[in-house]
Amino acid sequence: MKFFVDTADVSEIRALAEAGLVDGVTTNPSLVAKSGRRMADVIAEICSITPGPVSAEVTATGHEGMLAEGRHLREIAPNVCVKVPLTEAGLRACRALSADGTMVNVTLCFSPAQALLAAKAGATFVSPFVGRLDDVGTDGMGLIADIVQIYRNYSHLKTEVLVASIRHPMHLVDAAKLGAGVATLPPAVIRQLLHHPLTDRGLEAFLADWRKTGQTIL
Ligand code: G3P
Repeated sequence: MKFFVDTADVSEIRALAEAGLVDGVTTNPSLVAKSGRRMADVIAEICSITPGPVSAEVTATGHEGMLAEGRHLREIAPNVCVKVPLTEAGLRACRALSADGTMVNVTLCFSPAQALLAAKAGATFVSPFVGRLDDVGTDGMGLIADIVQIYRNYSHLKTEVLVASIRHPMHLVDAAKLGAGVATLPPAVIRQLLHHPLTDRGLEAFLADWRKTGQTIL
């Protein structure tokens, strides 16, 4: 399973990349706004940190505007993945950009039927939002199960399921059990995945015993 980091905070991305935990990055207009930086600058810096796909989202809502923005964004670096919303204009832009060899992430997916449309439009990734479905009392992980099953039924569909809006470690574990190809994780959730109280307690005990020996390794 590939791990993407869902942030536009370059210091977080650098630290996680040093631990080998960054196969790509996703951003959205809200995350870029939170960074307080110009979009082109922050996307260029992120692309220099990781060679993996870096999603940069268009903000136009019409087909022509999305295409123009997508073509502009992909000039920033070869690993830019243009992110478009799951609308008719978004799917048309997806089809055109994919045909030119540009990676496209179709975002704001909330139903299996939408995911099927994204795959037919040639999306590299489709982003179903599990947390936001859970927020409205719908089973977000059920959507992942449905999409994974549908894509497996049709081997000519090459779109990867990119599980988004992950809020806690069990979202990741459940998505991995279902065989989703990619998860995009907020840095805080990656840190939650790391920690286990038995790891901390075990390490304390080993070091306490070690101190009693009076030895040092170096
Ligand atoms: O990648 C999309 C993701 O950032 C949305 O997450 O927590 O705002 O629903 P959230």
